[in-house]
Amino acid sequence: MDNTTIMALCGKGGVGKTSVSALMVKLLSRKNGRRILAIDADPAVGLATALGLTVRKTVDDIRRGLITDIQKGTPEDKRAMAKRLDYELLEALESGDGFSLLAIGRSEDEGCFCKVNNLLKQIIADLADKFDIVLIDGEAGVEQINRRVMKTVDHLVLVSDTSAKGVGVANTIAHVATDNRAVNFTSMGLILNRVRNVDEVNDIRTRTALDIYGWVFEDDLIHDFDFKGKTLTGMPDTSLSLGAVAGVLEKLNLLS
Ligand SMILES: Nc1ncnc2c1ncn2[C@@H]1O[C@H](COP(=O)(O)OP(=O)(O)OP(=O)(O)O)[C@@H](O)[C@H]1O
Ligand SMILES: [Mg+2]
Repeated sequence: MDNTTIMALCGKGGVGKTSVSALMVKLLSRKNGRRILAIDADPAVGLATALGLTVRKTVDDIRRGLITDIQKGTPEDKRAMAKRLDYELLEALESGDGFSLLAIGRSEDEGCFCKVNNLLKQIIADLADKFDIVLIDGEAGVEQINRRVMKTVDHLVLVSDTSAKGVGVANTIAHVATDNRAVNFTSMGLILNRVRNVDEVNDIRTRTALDIYGWVFEDDLIHDFDFKGKTLTGMPDTSLSLGAVAGVLEKLNLLS
């Protein structure tokens, strides 16, 4: 996966992972010629909605279809199964303006169908390989990424609001990712969201060892877009939040 940069956004529920992801996708997809894959790992398909896409098929739908067939006793060898999954995964890719989107769907019980799950993970990895940048909007835990999507990411981006709880969850995810090697990553850092003043950022610096990649202020425009059900890709270039997210991407060398 040498030419593909994978980043995953994780953090406590409701802190702004999807909003930040959507702004990132908007910024990343601007540069022509780069293939961007957004992976929505939230069962509620929040990223798809934030990007204005409707998901017709999720990875979990594919998985369940296959398991149903296996249970019916339809014989399929591993190669035929892989080929079929490959095809169905391509069908599940939604096209946006300058990016593609894949939704993972509902959490699954991994126990029984290891063969199918492992194949799917392999096929997602092969698919990711065909893109230049893969952005994963994750669920709260970091294991989920490892278990359901991929074990190796380049940038593990933790997102938190300024609450002690949010920062605590980010710190915990960082520990799990590091100590248990739950995810192999090259760089890891924190984006603070819904910041009210810079003093909050300075205070949080004393409570986390994480590198702070950047921060996004509490933004009435994000609130307003959400209130009206407008997609965040429509955020104007003058938006401070968009600028703040661009700063993070620059720091990660993803805009050059
Ligand atoms: N900087 C901001 N200023 C104002 N409101 C914000 C900001 N960032 C996010 N929000 C609001 O916070 C809410 C939660 O944001 P979002 O859905 O992005 O969080 P999430 O971490 O993806 O949540 P979940 O864990 O449920 O997937 C949304 O209603 C969004 O409009
Ligand atoms: Mg979300």
